[in-house]
Amino acid sequence: MDHEVIVIGGGPGGYVCAIRCAQLGLRTALVEKAALGGTCLNWGCIPTKALYSATKLIDRASTAHEMGIAYASPTVDLARLAEWKSQVVTTLVEGIATLLDKNGVELHVAEGRLDGPGRVALSTGETMSAGRIVLASGSSPIEIPGFSFDDPRVWSSDDALALTEIPDRLVVIGGGVIGLEIASIYNRLGSSVTVLELLPEILSVVDLDRRTIAALKRFLKQQGLDVRTETAAQSIETENGEASVRTADEASIPADRVLLAVGRRSNTAGLGLETVGIEPNRRGFLPVDGALRCSAEGVYAIGDLAPGPMLAHKASAEGLALAEGFANGRMRPIDYEGIPQAIFTDPEIASAGLSERAAKEAGREVLVGRFPYAVLGKALGMREPDGFFQVVADASDHRLLGVQIIGADASELISEAAVAIENHLPVEAIADAIHPHPTLPEGLKEAAEGALGRAIHVVNR
Ligand code: NAI
Repeated sequence: MDHEVIVIGGGPGGYVCAIRCAQLGLRTALVEKAALGGTCLNWGCIPTKALYSATKLIDRASTAHEMGIAYASPTVDLARLAEWKSQVVTTLVEGIATLLDKNGVELHVAEGRLDGPGRVALSTGETMSAGRIVLASGSSPIEIPGFSFDDPRVWSSDDALALTEIPDRLVVIGGGVIGLEIASIYNRLGSSVTVLELLPEILSVVDLDRRTIAALKRFLKQQGLDVRTETAAQSIETENGEASVRTADEASIPADRVLLAVGRRSNTAGLGLETVGIEPNRRGFLPVDGALRCSAEGVYAIGDLAPGPMLAHKASAEGLALAEGFANGRMRPIDYEGIPQAIFTDPEIASAGLSERAAKEAGREVLVGRFPYAVLGKALGMREPDGFFQVVADASDHRLLGVQIIGADASELISEAAVAIENHLPVEAIADAIHPHPTLPEGLKEAAEGALGRAIHVVNR
């Protein structure tokens, strides 16, 4: 064997795994055919967040007069905005290249595929071998009948984030995480946005309580987004040069561009799985055991290829755990139930652990505490009064089961909850800890106190 570990795919699962393997003294190669950082860094999380923060500024500037500060109406230089976003991405991609180099990971810019047990063939013609091969090739957006990414009117999330134009009318198909994040960005850029969601509720793949979803829908409506649930998009039609999306209930919605965001599927094609006898399951994931092992000896799958939520930090956690398992002989288990998620709508939503509904469905008796942003001094001073904190704990032992936050900086606030949930701490761990005043995390503390019936700044029920 010329290597101890070969990782195929340089996204947040693969590059993190490769760096940690090398840090632990394993002879490691990373194979990446496109850009280091994968979807998250190049066409997902990072560009979305850059555009999220930039377009929030438009919104903040145009309403700052409420605080007595007036700006002229903001204008958008789309080319400059796209360039700035690309600079953010480039800085991070270059950072990964440096880290791989400094940690001694051998980088191969090529397409890699399994070539029988223990072997990887590269598109450059080279062949490598290793006792452990980690598959981390990520996922790609899926199409549905009636819509194709080959149609220039139909955007994938990559196209939307390339920022080539601000369409007057954008129809977003799919009220999931990607659809709603990008819908919010283009709404702030000035597009008139309609979101079509097949199911009775938006964000149905995320474990969120009805109250959180209802609040989000209210805020999206206030912002002028037209969100239509139980609406199946069927086709795109053009009449007299005008395109429109046809729905199953025969509605026709004019669209200058259509963003198709109806889910993603693991990238399993072209990986040479057949050469080692691995098959994806019905949902397209590679089945793995608790140690992320595929059915073939010495082959592992992480990130969007393996079952579980398609989240960058889930992929990185798996990559790290796997690397340490390779070096120590035993993989530390991953707490999948506690994995936090942040959704960059306006306001943000973040969650960790179980929703109230899921906890009850699991047969638990629960204590629930809520605290609104509207009475939190820091939030009011930030002119961010929308949203609330929700804490769910087990009624018998007070173990913290789940937290949901909808409101400003929810994505930053969820980590405190994630630490408590992943460490099986009781709700008192947050309720009794002294939080600095005035800060947003006080809202989490008050919600935790509320679950125990002893909140100070709201009336306990
Ligand atoms: P998704 O599965 O979250 O949402 C797709 C939505 O499209 C579903 O609600 C589905 O019911 C709907 N849909 C399907 N066919 C339809 C039709 N014909 N008409 C109307 N609606 C239809 O998928 P999405 O948003 O593409 O995201 C993919 C993955 O990426 C998810 O696992 C998501 O969690 C992850 N992701 C997470 C982010 C975050 O945590 N901030 C950011 C971006 C992606």
